[in-house]
Amino acid sequence: MRRAYRAQLLSPLASGALLHLEDGVLVVDEDGRIAAVGPFAEASLARTLVRDLRPRVLVPGFVDAHVHPPQTRIVGSATGPLLTWLETSVFPEEVRLRDGAYARAVARDFVARALASGTTTSALYATSDPAATEVLFEELEASGLRALVGLTLMDRGAPAELCLPRDVAMNACARLVDTWHGRDDGRLAFAVTPRFALSCTRELLEAAGRFAAERGLFVQTHVAENEDEERATLAMHPYASDYLGVYEATGLLGSRTVLAHAIHFTASAWERVARSGARIAHCPDSNFFLGSGRMRLAEACARGIPVGLGSDVGAGRAFDLRRAMASAYDTSLCVGAPVSPERLFELATLGGARALGFDARIGSLEVGKDADFVVLDVPPWKLDRAALLGLVAFAGDGVRVCSVHVRGRRLGGQPA
Ligand code: GUN
Ligand code: ZN
Repeated sequence: MRRAYRAQLLSPLASGALLHLEDGVLVVDEDGRIAAVGPFAEASLARTLVRDLRPRVLVPGFVDAHVHPPQTRIVGSATGPLLTWLETSVFPEEVRLRDGAYARAVARDFVARALASGTTTSALYATSDPAATEVLFEELEASGLRALVGLTLMDRGAPAELCLPRDVAMNACARLVDTWHGRDDGRLAFAVTPRFALSCTRELLEAAGRFAAERGLFVQTHVAENEDEERATLAMHPYASDYLGVYEATGLLGSRTVLAHAIHFTASAWERVARSGARIAHCPDSNFFLGSGRMRLAEACARGIPVGLGSDVGAGRAFDLRRAMASAYDTSLCVGAPVSPERLFELATLGGARALGFDARIGSLEVGKDADFVVLDVPPWKLDRAALLGLVAFAGDGVRVCSVHVRGRRLGGQPA
């Protein structure tokens, strides 16, 4: 049966406009797609079950363009900067995830945290362990969440237990693609995920680039996050003249590549990203926590580069994309190029969907898209558009996530 949700509606639109309806309705068909969106007074709702959620606000599900589920239990480990934090806090925890029961418990924690934050879609880095990656896929499948997931490729620069020789790793990727890529009508997908240039030999990066090209897969990796990291990278990959050049030389920079951080980029690097058609995952809260620096969002926007927001947990301190929106705002003030709450809201929803290649299906409340949305509890007094946007972007915990829906189905164990 068709269902209709009467609520305030707030959504970016593919046209670039912002939809705000104080008394709107979202109609979801039997297949979980959006059948109608508009003012409640104009809706035809025969044979439709109507739920009145007013004064709550219904927004597209948040899209986390970069997150590490294996780091769920080490959030807040203040052992940065990046390379020290990886060695001290991250790698030991990723070794612990070689235990299957622990990997499952952490994957379940991650799912619960994503749901509690109103995140319906994420781009995830699993560990380098194929079995733990399977477990993560299984838990995501059971949860109903949408995700792009990668086995994190490392064949050097990490404890031996975390390093996988190139051929073993690429065979594991092939098996994971065969089992999971496109599962449940595209709800789950596999992304080729070299952790970063420092944890991969040139041969592994090249093999990853070839595999992604052959299979038409997304690639995700880190770039130019930290200055010491960049120096070490160029010492290890001397054929490249800057960090981005490593990925160019190994066939990893292309129109399906999602680059996280991009803080220490020259104008030339930004130009090459734009020409390649690659996308950026902006991870501002992580950048503050590890003292990595500040990404200049305006450089990406000026060149039309697709940008999504990443929590980057566990360097980011919260799963909630609203924390990322607030940190992105603070970053934009620090670099003297303020970004509006409207643009931040777009980055956390449709922008993220574009960055991950899901925008034909999700990211906005528009007819024909899948009904991936969240319901937020806002105060009962009248809020104009600007006040509502400010609350959604910055009020964080003060605006409770009431329910999370993917393809119209309410997730998290509660009845629809
Ligand atoms: N660079 C390589 N691995 C990581 C990671 O796990 N988190 C962050 N923030 N940067 C990285
Ligand atoms: Zn990361």
